[in-house]
Amino acid sequence: TDTDTDPDSAAVLAPLHEAAHLLRTTAVPVAFPTETVYGLGADATRSAAVRGIYAAKGRPSDNPLIVHVSDLTMLRRLLSSSSPTTTSPEEVDERDVIPAIYHPLITRFWPGPLTILLPLPSPSPLASEVTASLRSFGARMPASALARTLIALSGTPLAAPSANASTRPSPTAARHVRDDLEGKIEVVLDGGACEVGVESTVVDGMCEPPVVLRPGGVGIEELRGCRGWEGVQRAYGEEIKKGEVPRAPGMKYKHYSPRARVVLCEVGGGKGVGVGDVKGEGKETVGVIRTGGWAVAGGLRYAGLGETGQVNGEGDAGFVVKEGVLLGEDGSEAGRLLDVDLGGDVKGVAHGLFAALRELDRLGADVIFVEGVSDGDDIAAAVMNRLRKAASEIRA
Ligand code: TXA
Ligand code: MG
Repeated sequence: TDTDTDPDSAAVLAPLHEAAHLLRTTAVPVAFPTETVYGLGADATRSAAVRGIYAAKGRPSDNPLIVHVSDLTMLRRLLSSSSPTTTSPEEVDERDVIPAIYHPLITRFWPGPLTILLPLPSPSPLASEVTASLRSFGARMPASALARTLIALSGTPLAAPSANASTRPSPTAARHVRDDLEGKIEVVLDGGACEVGVESTVVDGMCEPPVVLRPGGVGIEELRGCRGWEGVQRAYGEEIKKGEVPRAPGMKYKHYSPRARVVLCEVGGGKGVGVGDVKGEGKETVGVIRTGGWAVAGGLRYAGLGETGQVNGEGDAGFVVKEGVLLGEDGSEAGRLLDVDLGGDVKGVAHGLFAALRELDRLGADVIFVEGVSDGDDIAAAVMNRLRKAASEIRA
């Protein structure tokens, strides 16, 4: 067989075997791609291994981690270490140890970008660091074949947060992980750009009505189409309100943030931004991320837009950065402009968003103006949730 294209070839599997060996035997976490974002994985049953995740990310264990499984058998084993289940391996039925409320979701969305909250079994095989002393845990079966193969070869569920340094935008390419965690971890498995680009949707079906705790790759309207989920509610707060400016940088908990200041312009907030919006001492480098409504550069006056960069050097996050000179009202040079168009399709916006924020940072943007998308019940809710958290300022 052709070893270049056969996904089962030994050459393709060798790095996965090595990574699985590290995961089983050490406390050094492994970064791996999923269809949402790159994860930083560790054996969810060993405390020392899970603590290695926090050591690499450089923050204390405050937030519960999602437990990633390769298949339903692995999840059932977690839920009922003692009693073997009778259900067929990849189907759910009424005798299942997995609560019935989740069966339609599992059938429809797994493997995929959905995390379900489950009651923690007692005794729990999971390290206490995974659940941050909660009585529930989040479980997800990723769509990425590479991720599921890694988990299966490890033979244990993997706890994995996003593989970024804390506060930074989540990584959607292997290079993003290396930029943040170089020297702190040993292996970054490279699966190219993540297809979805925002994290999984986190749902809790153990309450009435069921709720969405974090919007993500599966839209709320898709959930609503499932039996038992017709009345699903949003149960997540967005950290800053429209028009509100945090009083001091660092006052709010930073999340998904590039180094540049992010100004989010909500949809309906005008035709773009103008030179007058670009304040600051001296000449600023102004980044603009457009999502289909703004004309070139969001209404700024510019000259000579040439292409400067590609998103991640691997070429598949779907945009280029155009560079030009920003012109003042009198035609004089007012700064440098970096313009990214993510297109009008919200899936494309989700796919490229984190990469665009990182790329504009890398190219030296001082401020990034982002054109919001209309906050619907699809993946747009996830896009706007992440942007509101990344923004220092929101314009209505
Ligand atoms: O797409 C994803 O979900 C990515 C990839 C790597 O799978 N992972 C990810 O993990 O985003 P992390 O740690 O960055 O986010 C985990 C989210 C947090 O919002 C956390 O509060 C929530 O899941 N979560 C996990 N377990 C929970 C629990 N028992 N109760 C409530 N929320 C929980
Ligand atoms: Mg994260």
